[in-house]
Amino acid sequence: MNKILVLPGDGVGKEVTDGAVKVIKAVDRIFKIDHLIEYEPFGGKSYDICKDPCPDSLIERALNFDAIFLGAVGHPKYDSVESSLRPESGLLKIRKKLDLYSNIRPIKYYEILKDSLVWKEEIIKDTDIVFVRELTGGAYFGKKGRTSSEAYDVIEYSCFQIERIARVAFDVARSRKKKLHVIDKANVLETSKLWREVVEKVRKDNGDIEVIYQYVDNAAAQLILRPTQYDVILTENMFGDILSDAGAVIGGSLGMLPSASVGEKISLYEPAHGSAPDIAGKGVVNPVASILSVALMYRYSFKREDIASAIENAVEKTLQEGNLTPDIAKEKVIGTEEMINRIINNLANQ
Ligand code: IPM
Ligand code: MG
Repeated sequence: MNKILVLPGDGVGKEVTDGAVKVIKAVDRIFKIDHLIEYEPFGGKSYDICKDPCPDSLIERALNFDAIFLGAVGHPKYDSVESSLRPESGLLKIRKKLDLYSNIRPIKYYEILKDSLVWKEEIIKDTDIVFVRELTGGAYFGKKGRTSSEAYDVIEYSCFQIERIARVAFDVARSRKKKLHVIDKANVLETSKLWREVVEKVRKDNGDIEVIYQYVDNAAAQLILRPTQYDVILTENMFGDILSDAGAVIGGSLGMLPSASVGEKISLYEPAHGSAPDIAGKGVVNPVASILSVALMYRYSFKREDIASAIENAVEKTLQEGNLTPDIAKEKVIGTEEMINRIINNLANQ
């Protein structure tokens, strides 16, 4: 029995988690798996109820499940709320408290989108990258403070934090093309120098993997100029946040970028896009990132590579048939619901 805790959150979170749950139910019907799905409010929705975007009781409850599925958090109406109680802080808290240190974000180029993208096809063709982003350290969780005239967010990393994410990245690289790009700013930052030292140590146990270091400013340019040079990218929290959004555009839009935040005890799956309050409830949000996050859940939490690949193939087939939501369509457009149903149909008919 797979026990899944669903946190729809804010904005389009509800629509995309509805899609994810529909896919989970379809998968379990097709592959004959039992599941238990329960819901909790999260982010702004939770703040509205108890003035806390992620109460401690939720963290405790989450540990009774095998996996967590999250929609999205955030809404401008919480802009004036104290920063530690904003919906985004709830997301950071659940990542930290459940020690979800390993954020995996795969991006891929889909040929059907070639006319809607700004890249020349020869540059982008065959792009297939996995970002491995450290998720519980760096500036997000270092010392913070402000006075009326100054503010600081300190980038902090320990050898322990770097080593464990590096080991994940080497393993991901081994399962793919055995090539790992490590992105940092070692010409300026002490934390980046420590990253290189620790990665060099881990590399000694992983002699079969080719390691390439790049500075983050160069990597930002290279990602646009020659994305196919990358296979697996390892980087720290904030660089990973920025570079993975840039990478998502190669996959057509932010609405296509899934993510797995993997910990030792439990893992959380969420589309990497935000809550997009401007389009919430209109039935136009792209559910692909959410559905691909379901695939990651079967891959990493339930160890069902067969199901993960089946979902990914169904998404790819549905897109290649020309079913596109407004964020990626040039002409013929379908809505959220129709996209979900067509993906499920293709999954059932494999
Ligand atoms: C992401 C998001 C979050 C982050 C925000 C919502 C706090 O942008 O998951 O990439 O910065 O990590
Ligand atoms: Mg982000």
